[in-house]
Amino acid sequence: MGFIQLKTALPGPKSQAALVRRKDALPAGLAKSTEVVVESASGALVRDVDGNQLIDFAGGIGMINVGHAEPHVVAAIKAQADKYIHTCSLVTTMEPYLDLAELLNKLTPGAFPKKTLLANSGSEAVENAVNIAKYYTGRNAVLCFEGAYHGRTLLTLSLTSKYALFKKGFGSFVSDIYRIPAPNMFRRPEGLSEEAYVASCIGQLEQAFVAQVAPESLAAIIIEPVQGEGGFLTIPAAYLRKLREVCDKYGIVLIADEIQCGASRTGKLFAIEHSGVVPDIIVSAKSIGAGMPISAVTGKAEIMDAPHLGGVGGTYGGSPIACVAAIEALKILSSPAFLRRVEEVGEIIRTRMETWKEKFPIVGDVRGLGAMRLVEFVKDRRSKEPDPDRTLAIIKEAVAHGVILIRAGLFSNCIRLLPPIAITDAQLSEGLDVLEAAIIKYGNTTGL
Ligand SMILES: Cc1ncc(COP(=O)(O)O)c(C=O)c1O
Repeated sequence: MGFIQLKTALPGPKSQAALVRRKDALPAGLAKSTEVVVESASGALVRDVDGNQLIDFAGGIGMINVGHAEPHVVAAIKAQADKYIHTCSLVTTMEPYLDLAELLNKLTPGAFPKKTLLANSGSEAVENAVNIAKYYTGRNAVLCFEGAYHGRTLLTLSLTSKYALFKKGFGSFVSDIYRIPAPNMFRRPEGLSEEAYVASCIGQLEQAFVAQVAPESLAAIIIEPVQGEGGFLTIPAAYLRKLREVCDKYGIVLIADEIQCGASRTGKLFAIEHSGVVPDIIVSAKSIGAGMPISAVTGKAEIMDAPHLGGVGGTYGGSPIACVAAIEALKILSSPAFLRRVEEVGEIIRTRMETWKEKFPIVGDVRGLGAMRLVEFVKDRRSKEPDPDRTLAIIKEAVAHGVILIRAGLFSNCIRLLPPIAITDAQLSEGLDVLEAAIIKYGNTTGL
């Protein structure tokens, strides 16, 4: 018997009842990519309230790289809860906060002195990073990228791209934010080499300094070294190096948003390490907390120290229960064995996806770094016209057969795989079989 065990059609009766409650009690705008109602989860498996067992390829949008209910994380949370839950870092000093900050200061790239501010969500950390950069530089402008996702608070929503899904109806947005296209190898003009394309993207950056904003006005450039929501676009090293050069030249703070691509997902603890570029500030969240709500802003000490006394902080930032979970998670995430496993998981997915590209014309591209892998669906390989409907149909089909999946991409035409790295080879292969069967079902043009 496989790992997927379906005792009812999905959603089963108990799940259906919970979904009615969700509809009645929760706002309609809170989307869900599956109708799974969770009873328990461990490793890469999720069990629902009807007794069905599913394989998790979404990992809560990449926030559980160490696996659901990782035993060391659970033990640390329990032990901390027995001691005390929280006393607020604005009132007292809590050692788990110090331990985690010191660990992040040590583990993040850059040989300079660093400091870490802890917060509760990715959005809150990005917001703090930008505010700190503004304070440090005394400037207001921020440069960001098409396809970027940085969160849903007012400032981070202003930085986020993909208008219809995230921003519609929520304006006005924060001013002094400038956006340029992010390099996208798959959608580069036909006939252009990768090198020539990156050069043209650098040209767009330079053009923006003429057409949009003076570099001397920029407080920060914020970039995801591998775009998450935008569709697992790895930003080429040459482009990141150019950003570093520009930031050095004009005194701009380079912020790497590693909320989705960090935490060893790509085979290095931080994705930007692949390029050798050292940012001034790194923002972490999601998988560093192993499921607990925690985020971090780690940066050059002189930048982090810029705001006045009382200028940063919040009630729950650095909750000791979340801190001890993150410390255990980081011990695992940074271990050579874990990083080796990321490579193995990534290679298994990559190898399978490459066969899809050969077999199925609707697969326009397969890409990613380490275990951050994605398949992009198109109506036609020449025109590369996105196929969001078929993507959704494939996701629904795979979920109905027991694999939890989510989409991605500016055009919502990609399926991204962010399984817990605790997944076994057998679970991975079973899940990929289910996804492949769904692609086959909807792969012919009459399938919809
Ligand atoms: C790259 C990136 N930045 C920021 C965020 C926002 O994080 P949160 O949802 O914890 O506010 C996300 C969430 O998906 C993300 O992927």
